[in-house]
Amino acid sequence: MSELTAVKLAQQQREVSVAEFFERNRHLLGFDNKRKALLTVVKEACDNSLDATEEARVLPEINVEIIDLGNDKFRIIVEDNGPGIVKKQIPNVFGKLLYGSKFHSMKMSRGQQGIGISASCLYAQLTTGRPLRVISKISPKHPAVYMEIGIDTKNNRAQVFKEEEKEWKKEHGTRIELDIEGSYQKGEQSVDVYLKETAIVNPHATILYTNPKAEQLIFPRATDLLPVQPKEIKPHPYGVEHGILMKMLQTTESRTLQSFLTNDFSRVGPGTAKEICQNARLLPNSKPSELTHPQIEQLMEGIKNTKIIAPPADCISPIGAELLEKGLKKEVNSEFYATSTRSPEVYRGIPFIIEAGIAYGGEQAGDQSIRLLRFANRVPLLYQQSSCATFKAITGMNWRQYGLSQSQGALPIGPVTVVVHLASVWPPFTSEAKEAIAHYPEIIKEMRLALQDCGRKLSSYINKKKRVGEAQQRISIFENYIPEVAGFLEALTGEKKEKTIEKMRQMLSKNKELIQQYKEAHEVTKREAEEKEDQIELKGAIEYDE
Ligand SMILES: Nc1ncnc2c1ncn2[C@@H]1O[C@H](COP(=O)(O)OP(=O)(O)OP(=O)(O)O)[C@@H](O)[C@H]1O
Ligand SMILES: [Mg+2]
Repeated sequence: MSELTAVKLAQQQREVSVAEFFERNRHLLGFDNKRKALLTVVKEACDNSLDATEEARVLPEINVEIIDLGNDKFRIIVEDNGPGIVKKQIPNVFGKLLYGSKFHSMKMSRGQQGIGISASCLYAQLTTGRPLRVISKISPKHPAVYMEIGIDTKNNRAQVFKEEEKEWKKEHGTRIELDIEGSYQKGEQSVDVYLKETAIVNPHATILYTNPKAEQLIFPRATDLLPVQPKEIKPHPYGVEHGILMKMLQTTESRTLQSFLTNDFSRVGPGTAKEICQNARLLPNSKPSELTHPQIEQLMEGIKNTKIIAPPADCISPIGAELLEKGLKKEVNSEFYATSTRSPEVYRGIPFIIEAGIAYGGEQAGDQSIRLLRFANRVPLLYQQSSCATFKAITGMNWRQYGLSQSQGALPIGPVTVVVHLASVWPPFTSEAKEAIAHYPEIIKEMRLALQDCGRKLSSYINKKKRVGEAQQRISIFENYIPEVAGFLEALTGEKKEKTIEKMRQMLSKNKELIQQYKEAHEVTKREAEEKEDQIELKGAIEYDE
């Protein structure tokens, strides 16, 4: 009986194509409801455009247009001034899942898996049956290429329905057009918010956006400086896992263990390599591919017991505390701002940097949970907040010591916006939809340290504000009683009432001066922030409709 079952099962057992898998599991890629699907498609296209323009060292100019086609159908058009895509690669980039240029490169970028835009093409095909249309041009010398692309999901292969050369005024760039089923709504987790937050952490980009209501919003660039180009690095030996090490040992071109360690890892020079071999009780001239499983274990122990310097930071391009504060000031009208950037750290051999910021007071509601803005590699994360490492880091801290109220394990309450940015060679997401950061203890610890730094600055501000408020109250109470007190003193000591009043007022004026100084300093910071905002508005009149 069991043999029969095994034979029957054998007839049914066959490979599943990755495209078929995601066709059925599109929710894993952010296509679980119509509203989110609209956001996901815009996000995948914009993230690619920003990556591509930066890679080409061009200041990004991105045009996003969403047209309401009626009946819950939308046309999404995203155009960039990036390097374009060579003709032969266009079908694979858009019509094959898990195909891209970023998965194998160890440097910070928004994309990683090679699935974002092809999944959007798959979703368009599933919901409207229409192919993706793309125009791409790689230089003024080449004509633009136009293609219509679909996906043969059974074989995870691109289907090209149309291909022709086209006139396109642009010197270089890419324009894609997708028809999808979706739903448009403003407010939290909307395309509008995604683009607004994208503008905050990408101050070098100009984004033009026409929403389905045909309103045009402009997010002009606030700086002409491109972010520093992250450099590609090799993995750091700390935290590298057995399976990865085994694969590296088998595929390396290095002939000895020592040269393998120096060539295939970052931060390992000949001296460190020798020390690792010594600590691992392995010969430096062993052949990498011949290492046995126990010897790989020894090698891992050897790495653990050798002091190796931290990974280089140039594979990551953080926003920087100053620009982050600028971005926050642009977005949140508050009375106090603090930001903090940490030094690079490693999780599983992968470098990362945490940045955090706090905006306090102003127009923000004081009786609700704080607002949390999450970013990974300059991309806003709008879904799955409570599954995110940022949420765990914040709720695990004691915010009462910083002057906010908080119930155990919950977000603190107060007029506060908190920003957390993870910049990494490989941000670990909890799912393919890249919505929340996984709970790696090393990452959570760094988030806490950055937030504690901002928290300390916040509490010193709140305390100072409280002290000034109390002093002011004491002064005004005392001031009211001066004539009465002076009258009593005259009766007791004979000192003239007018003279005492005069003296007492002089005493008070010293305190008043201090308070005035504090207030003026505060006014200056506020005015500066407002002036900066005016300048940005003059550059291109930001319109934003919440
Ligand atoms: N606008 C564009 N300009 C130039 N190249 C692009 C553009 N869009 C996509 N590409 C290329 O196509 C590849 C595939 O894009 P896709 O969005 O599917 O994956 P990815 O960005 O590498 O990773 P992820 O799945 O995380 O988004 C990219 O790696 C990039 O090389
Ligand atoms: Mg992408």
